[in-house]
Formats: sequence, C-alpha cells, structure tokens
Amino acid sequence: MIGKGPYIPAKQLNGIAEEMDWRLRVFDSLSYPTIIIKRDKTLLNANKKFYEIFALSPKDIIGRKCYDFFADENVPCHSNECPIHQVLKNKTGHYLTRHYNNRWEDRVFSPILDDHGEVAYIIESIRDVTRVKLLESELTSYKEFIGRVVESSASAIVAADRQGKIELMNRAAKDLFKVTNGDKDKIRYAKQLYHPGQAKEIMKMLRDESIGGKGKLPSTTVTLISADGEEIAAEMTAAIIYDDQGNEVATTAIYNDLREKLAVEQQLKEAQKQLAQSEKMASLGQLAAGVAHEINNPLTGILFNGSLILEKLEPDHPFRQDMEYIIEDADRCKDIVKSLLVYSRRTDSRKNIVQINELVEQSLKITRDPKTFGNIKVKKLLAGEMMLINVDTNKLNQVIINLVINAADAMEGKGVLTLKTYRDKGQKKVFLEVADTGPGISEANMTKIFDPFFTTKQVGKSTGLGLSIAYGIIEEHGGRISVKETGEGGTTFVIELPQYIPAESDI
Ligand SMILES: Nc1ncnc2c1ncn2[C@@H]1O[C@H](COP(=O)(O)OP(=O)(O)OP(=O)(O)O)[C@@H](O)[C@H]1O
Ligand SMILES: [Mg+2]
Repeated sequence: MIGKGPYIPAKQLNGIAEEMDWRLRVFDSLSYPTIIIKRDKTLLNANKKFYEIFALSPKDIIGRKCYDFFADENVPCHSNECPIHQVLKNKTGHYLTRHYNNRWEDRVFSPILDDHGEVAYIIESIRDVTRVKLLESELTSYKEFIGRVVESSASAIVAADRQGKIELMNRAAKDLFKVTNGDKDKIRYAKQLYHPGQAKEIMKMLRDESIGGKGKLPSTTVTLISADGEEIAAEMTAAIIYDDQGNEVATTAIYNDLREKLAVEQQLKEAQKQLAQSEKMASLGQLAAGVAHEINNPLTGILFNGSLILEKLEPDHPFRQDMEYIIEDADRCKDIVKSLLVYSRRTDSRKNIVQINELVEQSLKITRDPKTFGNIKVKKLLAGEMMLINVDTNKLNQVIINLVINAADAMEGKGVLTLKTYRDKGQKKVFLEVADTGPGISEANMTKIFDPFFTTKQVGKSTGLGLSIAYGIIEEHGGRISVKETGEGGTTFVIELPQYIPAESDI
C-alpha cells in the first residue's frame, strides 16, 4: 500500500503546494506526521515528518484517495466508520485510534474552514502511541494478574478505603463472611466484620509503630462476625496502604479461618484427657483388684472366726456387743471389696438387650426413697424412639442409681433432677443424661471425682466408690461417662453407650 521513495520537500511540488507559501513551512515544521485531505478524500499533500517517518515521497501519496492509500480499497469506507465524513458533517475535529502492523496510532482529524465556514480541507495528524498502548496493555494484564491472584487466594482478603468502606472482597472473604451477591449491601463497612469497637482497636494497633512497624499488624487472633451474625475465630494480618506522599489511602486485611484448627486442637486435648483418665483408671483398677484380692482372704477368715466366737458367747457375755461390731465392720469391708472388684471388672457380666428408657424407669423405682428425694422434682425427657442397648442390667442399674443419688445428695432435698435419653443415629450411640440443679463440682475436684475413695461427703456415710464403679462398668460396656457441664446452675453427667442394632433392621 505505502510505496517508498526519496524525500522531496513539499514546496518543490506542484502549483498548489507553492500557493501555500509560508503555511507550508509551518506545515513542514509540525513534529507529528500530518497530511492534508480534500473534501473528495483526495490526498493533497503531507508534511516533512510524514515522509520521513513512513519513508515515502510525495508521488506516493499526492492525488491518491485516502481509502486507497490507507485501506487499500477502491471504494470509500462506510460513512459510519469514515472520520472525514464525520468532520465534513459536524465541522468539528474527530479522533480515532488505529492499530495495524503492531503499531498504534492516534489520528486527529481537524477541519480547515473557508471564509464561509465550510470545510475546505481536512488536516490529519498521526501520533504513534504504540509505546503508551503497550504500557497500557502491560498494566492491564498486570492488574488482571493481580486481580486473579487476589481472587483465587485461599485466604480471605478485604480492602477498605480511608472511610472504612469495603472496596474489595475476594471470593474466600465472601465465603468466610457468607456474603452472597444478593446481600452485598449487608456488609458495606469494615467495622461490620467485627464486634463493636474492635475495628477501631485494630486501626489503633495498625498505626502504632511499636506493633509490627508503621502501618503493619502482624498475625493476630480476632473474632469476626459473618453476614448472618455467626462468630468466626480467625487469624488476621493487616496493613495500611499509603500514597507517595505518605498519606493513608486504604487498609487491607488477610484472614484465615481458625475454626477447624481450633476444633481439631480441642478434640486432641479431649482425647489426651480421655487417655490420661483411662490410663489412671487402668492402674487404679489394677491396684484396687490387687488390694481387694489380698484383703478378701483375711476378711473371710475374720468373718468366719468372728461368727464362730459369737456363736460360742453367752447372750449376756460382756464381749458379745463388741464382737457384733467387729462382724458388722468386717461385713462393711466385704461390701467395699465387692465394689472394688466390680470397679476393676473382676465380676462376670450377664448381658441382656433392653430399652434404655425401661432401665431408667427401673433404676428410678429402686432409688426413689422419699427421704433422699424430699422436695426434688423429677423431670423425665425420655426419647420416644426405640433405643436398645446390650448390657448387664444389674450393673447399669447400679450406675444410674449412683448418679441419681449423687444428684439428690448435691441438691440437698430440693431442686430438679432431669433424666434425658436420646441417640445419635449416625454414630449408633445412645445417650443418658442425669442433670441436677445442685451447686456444681469445683474445678479442683473435677480431676478426682472418678478416683476410687474420693468423696466430699461425710466419712462413714460414703465410700467415694460410686463414680469409680460407674466408670468401670461403662467402660466395660464400650461406652463413656463424663461430666457434660457443671457450674452454679448444676451438674450434668452423660453416659454414652453403643446402640444395639438388631440384624436386618433399620432402627
Ligand atoms: N451431681 C453431683 N454434684 C456435685 N458433686 C458431685 C456430684 N456427683 C458427684 N459429685 C462429687 O464427686 C464425689 C465422688 O462421687 P462418688 O459417687 O464417687 O462418691 P460419693 O457419692 O461421695 O460416695 P458413694 O457414691 O461411694 O456413696 C462426691 O463426693 C461429690 O463431691
Ligand atoms: Mg456416689
């Protein structure tokens, strides 16, 4: 399209060029390649810069139609696309950007008006903006790249302006704060992401140079609030963004959800506690079994020989009463030994399949001694569904009775005793909760209550074996017993047992 040739100054050309005298010098001195076009789209002439830049000579352009020269077409371009048409129509300048052969040009079309205000010629200046355009496109792709990095980050990223208005929230942040496009307006300000007053505290720390340096907040644990009001434990780092003059323009914060990590840590702690408890119980169980076994024989001897002596004593013998006391106390020791053997699982089990609710009712019937219960109200929240367990009913009754008596003791004759049963279908587990409205268990005692012989009750009245026996029995049944909660409002013990599922049943 554009043919090459030696440069010939414009003034040496045809007559028309000469008519233009000094204007030609102005034209030639323009530093942008410029071309003059007639109304009929014929190229009249170009300036020195034009010939220089495109390495052309006047014969390459003069007299040619603009569409032939620029677009290599035989017919004019469509009027909508033709800038000359626009200039002729509006009598004002027109502007367009053209891209060809890896070159970007800004082309400015200006009308030269005659004495009657009509367009006589059109002057077209061409400015090479390739460098600017390349920088612009580099910047755009860089921005897009940064945008994609931010958007695809697994960490939640939020940026806010100086007024705290949220300007950016990446996908992870929208997920974390449960912001859907529908309720974007619910969270508009950064302060809505925290409890009242906390955003201010964070800004204070950010500006405090002694914490992480100027405008920086190192990793901090915070509680965030989602769009639906849920609290989220998260780890946060934040920064203030400054302009070149050092003015604050925005803040950014990166959050990582800690809930799962904390839950796992909690589970681990719980498991460690359980393990420590079972290890302690196992060694205490061994000790108890050993002691019980060793004491059992001499005790049998004391009882046997004591009874023999008693039989031989006359009814009014002065030692008779003392002998009776000896036998009574030895009997009590025998009971303790029996309990210790139960605790250390040295007794046989006879298992039956029973409904847990029936077992609860049965235990309550056995326990209900008006003297123990006084004004205690019994509330039963027994699940209506079938919940079978395969257990030694005598031993289980013993556990429930122990818990019920403990609860009654704690309430000292008044309060509410609640017995609740439920199940976890997925885990195939059955639960029984025994709750009281007593004074609760102190933190110091919490680690000891399952130990054999630990009691806070009157010596002689209680042996402190109730919970340790319960622990042994429940463990023997593959279950767990623990304190679900305790405090001023009372104590809740929970027993968890494997659910018995009959074959070919979907219960
Ligand atoms: N529901 C409860 N509320 C408050 N404290 C309790 C409760 N259950 C148990 N405890 C505490 O745990 C201790 C140990 O209980 P455990 O049943 O093992 O023994 P005990 O009741 O003291 O004696 P025993 O059961 O042998 O008669 C109790 O002495 C009491 O301090
Ligand atoms: Mg007890």
